[in-house]
Amino acid sequence: MLETVINKPNTGLVGTITVPGDKSISHRAVMFGSIANGTTEITGFLKGEDCLSTIRCMRQLGVNIEEKEDKIIVHGKGLDGLQEPEEVLDVGNSGTTIRLLSGILATQSFSNVLVGDDSIAKRPMGRVTGPLKMMNAFIDGRDQGQLTPLFIRGGNLNAINYVSPVASAQVKSAIILASLRANGTTKVTEPYRSRDHTERMLKAFQVDVEVSGNTVAIKGGHDLVATNVHVPGDISSAAFMLVAGAITKNSKVILNNVGVNPTRTGIIDVLEKMGADMDIEYDQTSSFEPTATITMKSSSLNGITIDGDLIPRLIDEIPAIAVLATQAEGTTVIKDAAELKVKETNRIDTMVNQLKALGANIRATDDGMIIEGQTKPLTGGEVNSFGDHRVGMAMALCGLISDSPVQLINTEAINVSYPKFFEHLEMLKQK
Ligand code: S3P
Repeated sequence: MLETVINKPNTGLVGTITVPGDKSISHRAVMFGSIANGTTEITGFLKGEDCLSTIRCMRQLGVNIEEKEDKIIVHGKGLDGLQEPEEVLDVGNSGTTIRLLSGILATQSFSNVLVGDDSIAKRPMGRVTGPLKMMNAFIDGRDQGQLTPLFIRGGNLNAINYVSPVASAQVKSAIILASLRANGTTKVTEPYRSRDHTERMLKAFQVDVEVSGNTVAIKGGHDLVATNVHVPGDISSAAFMLVAGAITKNSKVILNNVGVNPTRTGIIDVLEKMGADMDIEYDQTSSFEPTATITMKSSSLNGITIDGDLIPRLIDEIPAIAVLATQAEGTTVIKDAAELKVKETNRIDTMVNQLKALGANIRATDDGMIIEGQTKPLTGGEVNSFGDHRVGMAMALCGLISDSPVQLINTEAINVSYPKFFEHLEMLKQK
């Protein structure tokens, strides 16, 4: 396991960073390109471990995918041109790969076995396999198809009207993908709106997706027409640099090409409410995903409450927000966020325990955490990513504001979504 020591910068963090491509959009571009008719060229693709798992799985299903320095070229097979994989499909650490791919595989009459790493083995799959079984796919797995390894043989699907108990883009997307070959119109309704990259991108691939409030409707029988995709920077990765800039004295961090899809910008709302010194300049773009340049300066922050429909719009940013809240004046309450328990780790437990170990005043609740801000440095010491990329990056940020260095164990987990994370931090420090 790799270790990294993070020290306080001598001066502030200053400079301009182009954050890596959006993970959610990169996965979808490869999957949709694979099941489209024609060739899809993807620029800005995130070459992180999770998205590389998606490429590997699609190749095993018979898709020719070329990896060039500056782009990915997917030679689509069409939804009816995929082939039975000879080996088990291994999704590594990637929840998006296994859940979205399950939706695609539900449309296929051949057999598949899906596995992942130790973290994937603990994550709930029933939320996806349940509705896919209702559509008539044959799915089995540990605990009656709730856990990996999963076995999927699909085909002959019926449309369903599904009311999801969770606001999850992975659940919604799996059902939408399966509905491409279902008999009739499928509807998915969520309690709150989750990220809508699937809906936007399918429209670009000329699929008719109807969105009304929190319901998405899709008619079976659609074919995807290949299109080129430009992947914007990942706001979930940008979030760590935004927090770094806000909490480190004498800083000015400029992030360009950041994806600012409104279903993802909860972190911007939070930073604004906490009083961050931030400026956003929206780009003029014809892409189906909006982008902006965001400038963050060192900020005096105040605690706030984060709950309700804001949660799905910033669920992946909560580890970064927890660090931010330790440096705010007053109390920050995060609630309605029980979903954190089923991410790459139980992010309520991992973040609370580790921030406590560095001297933060934080406690776990049933559905979130409460942080008493202290506007004083953390203590430094040894922390662990526990194999969770976002926990690793959040804990690394603590080194910027700690009295003594932070030693992060298991740093390689960060390669899942932000392989250049430490390189970028160093670039900002050297200026
Ligand atoms: C994702 C959706 C979210 C998010 C994950 C990526 C996606 O998960 O946490 O990192 O690409 O659809 P849920 O759909 O489970 O909320």
